[in-house]
Amino acid sequence: MVTSNNPPATPLGDSDKWENDLLRRYPREGKGGRKFRDYESEARPSVREFYRLNHRHQTMDFVREKQAEYLPLRKRRMTVWEALEYLNTLVDDSDPDIDLPQIEHLLQTAEAIRRDGHPRWFILAGLIHDLGKILCLFGEPQWAVVGDTFPLGCRFSEKIVYHQFFADNPDSVQPEYATAPGIYEEGCGLNQVTMSWGHDEYLYHVVKDRLPEPALYMIRYHSCYPIHREGEYDHLMNDHDHEMFAWVKAFNPYDLYTKSSDRVDFTALRPFYEDLIEEYLPGELAW
Ligand SMILES: [Fe+2]
Ligand SMILES: [Fe+2]
Repeated sequence: MVTSNNPPATPLGDSDKWENDLLRRYPREGKGGRKFRDYESEARPSVREFYRLNHRHQTMDFVREKQAEYLPLRKRRMTVWEALEYLNTLVDDSDPDIDLPQIEHLLQTAEAIRRDGHPRWFILAGLIHDLGKILCLFGEPQWAVVGDTFPLGCRFSEKIVYHQFFADNPDSVQPEYATAPGIYEEGCGLNQVTMSWGHDEYLYHVVKDRLPEPALYMIRYHSCYPIHREGEYDHLMNDHDHEMFAWVKAFNPYDLYTKSSDRVDFTALRPFYEDLIEEYLPGELAW
């Protein structure tokens, strides 16, 4: 709990709250399955407030502004290891029972993928998929870094969690955005679609020329629960998106269900991951 005596030590507090809330919304199959429940009314007030802000402020204009600010990738130059260490300076101690350092989540995700015998680029996607959260260290608010992502420029799906908060989004009253396809052609492909801004889209642009395409889809759409879990926005996708989303769906359980309080042996794992980074993403990257 965040109390006045114990404020979040870093700006990443709500990131873990969002991720823990995802687990509540999408519990692991076999642990009671997914029954109808009123997830929204059961959420913590801080999660609800997080979505209120996210849905109010994620507009086409906002995303264009953030694309112009970040996509030239002129903030820093860092190796992947430096980015991991940089991200790890964000530790939320407001919820010590459930929160892990970011690097633990990334290594736990990657190690579970590795144990299942997947290709090396899949393991690497696990290792780096949340590095875009360094946006927090550049001063971005929580709602502009994490949370479910969704297309902009078209009608907001009613299956997006807390859909009602879009009533306060200025894009909701733009006639050209009010239809299901909005400003897009049916079947245009997600690459033509402007997504809400966050850590997925940012990291995709950092690595987009360097990794196999399934890894890029995992990175770019792993928070797009309205598509990969709810099956929405089919009308904007093309056949290639459908093929690639099989990989996004394969990735999602590793992201959601591998969190464990068992500490990873960072020193023992480091040589394997240094080789892996060297293979695909050597040297400094532009962030
Ligand atoms: Fe993520
Ligand atoms: Fe993650």
